[in-house]
Amino acid sequence: MEFSINNGNPAKQRCACVVVGVFETRILSEAAKTLDKNTNGYISNILKNGDMEGKLDSTLLLHNVPNTLCKRVLLVGLGEKSNFCDREYRSAIRSTFNKLNETGASDAKLFLIEIPVKNRKITWKISHTVILAIESIYRSDQLKSKRNNNKQQLQKVTLSTIRKMDFATGKDALQWGLATAHGMSLAKDLGNLPPNICTPTYLAKLAVKMAKNYKLKTTILEQKDMEKLGMGSLLSVARGSNEPAKLITLEYWGQNKKEKPFVLVGKGVTFDTGGISLKPAANMDEMKYDMCGAASVFGTIKAIAQMQLPINVIGIIPTTENMPGGKATKPGDIVTSMSGQTIEILNTDAEGRLILCDALTYAERYKPEVIIDIATLTGACVIALGHVASGLLSNDDKLATELLSASEQAADRAWHLPLWNEYDEQLGSNFADMANIGGRDAGTITASCFLSRFTKKYRWAHLDIAGTAWKSGKNKGATGRPVPLLTQYLTTHATKKSSEKKS
Ligand code: BES
Ligand code: MN
Ligand code: ZN
Repeated sequence: MEFSINNGNPAKQRCACVVVGVFETRILSEAAKTLDKNTNGYISNILKNGDMEGKLDSTLLLHNVPNTLCKRVLLVGLGEKSNFCDREYRSAIRSTFNKLNETGASDAKLFLIEIPVKNRKITWKISHTVILAIESIYRSDQLKSKRNNNKQQLQKVTLSTIRKMDFATGKDALQWGLATAHGMSLAKDLGNLPPNICTPTYLAKLAVKMAKNYKLKTTILEQKDMEKLGMGSLLSVARGSNEPAKLITLEYWGQNKKEKPFVLVGKGVTFDTGGISLKPAANMDEMKYDMCGAASVFGTIKAIAQMQLPINVIGIIPTTENMPGGKATKPGDIVTSMSGQTIEILNTDAEGRLILCDALTYAERYKPEVIIDIATLTGACVIALGHVASGLLSNDDKLATELLSASEQAADRAWHLPLWNEYDEQLGSNFADMANIGGRDAGTITASCFLSRFTKKYRWAHLDIAGTAWKSGKNKGATGRPVPLLTQYLTTHATKKSSEKKS
């Protein structure tokens, strides 16, 4: 799909489809008004017939509208004018592309980015339109023997305005949207791959390939390397599996190496059976998504490398399977982490924290500005926040606030949960420094308390994406979250830094 921006009169666009918005009840947007004038009231006359009220997400496709140069006009409902905010904008854009994808139109000009959205600039509307357009055509059908080879129809999308606008900033916003969307698509592809293909070795090979394509540095630690480093906790999870565990690092140096890097740590459990604390059979296939934290790190690094963002970012991905087996870790086993702290493993299904804690200790060597880990860590997070928001926990309130504002901007929601000492007490063990579980209560928080014991030396935040990384049911599939949140956060920092330098 190709994107461009232009300005002009909607009636004078030679293309397969022109899209304009209509508010409730039958209130024309500016572009729709212009079109209406040029067509001698054709649009308002049609609306009077009662075929469309302008309800949010409704659409009406018109053919051969007189006095226009386009084959079709698509009217998109925007809902109440006074309610039109970012959620409504994104929803209307989604409906636009769903409808366009049903038609035979190969190119479309959307007159939607000029419609005012509270607190959002035109650049936001451009970026989000691009992301939603690419999302609308995403499929994961590489492994179907008969792929739907109806060639993708919609190939060219133009974001149009009736007034002149600043093309340079418009183009930047377009590039940002494209990079973010491509990062999301990579994260989705990896998440959707079956666990017999997407193994730790597969992810390591991908890192090497990405490093070549985007001039990154990559290092793969093998099991013997991790043994030398004393990563007893990470390795305890891999014991039941025949697939060797890896610790992957991907380094993107977009500015002076003296500048402290932002470190992203992604949970890469390519399949989580629960280990000896075996999970029930129902929906266990979805535990192939237990590497979505890792996938979001790959996706975010791809996005920022594509944009050549002036910032230093390190991705660290501990990756393994969690399997039962003769050598598997047993409940009651005690292991020593790289930090020296000992852990009594009371439930082998609480494995995410066991691989993350060693990766978090390993991250110290990069002297990071901040560390953010991303993990499908707890079922409790799905109970608390459902599939709407990711859980956010941090040992630094400023960092949490910055991530929350990035999540708002990116329409990739997160919600701040507390990390108080009272919760940490649930991790006590009679035999080791800590247990790996803290009981049923506040499971998302106690999991983070566990991680916080390994992140005392730096500013750290944790994103629990158990409810947001994929969808179940008929539309089963990875969402690409939280690539938008992370990309937004890093972009904000990169632009802040470069403007600090200039001033
Ligand atoms: N990967 C799971 C968390 C998960 C479960 C994510 C369901 C999404 C849907 C994680 O490794 C896990 O099994 N966590 C346990 C922790 C418990 C044993 C303390 C859980 O949430 O049940
Ligand atoms: Mn588990
Ligand atoms: Zn898991």
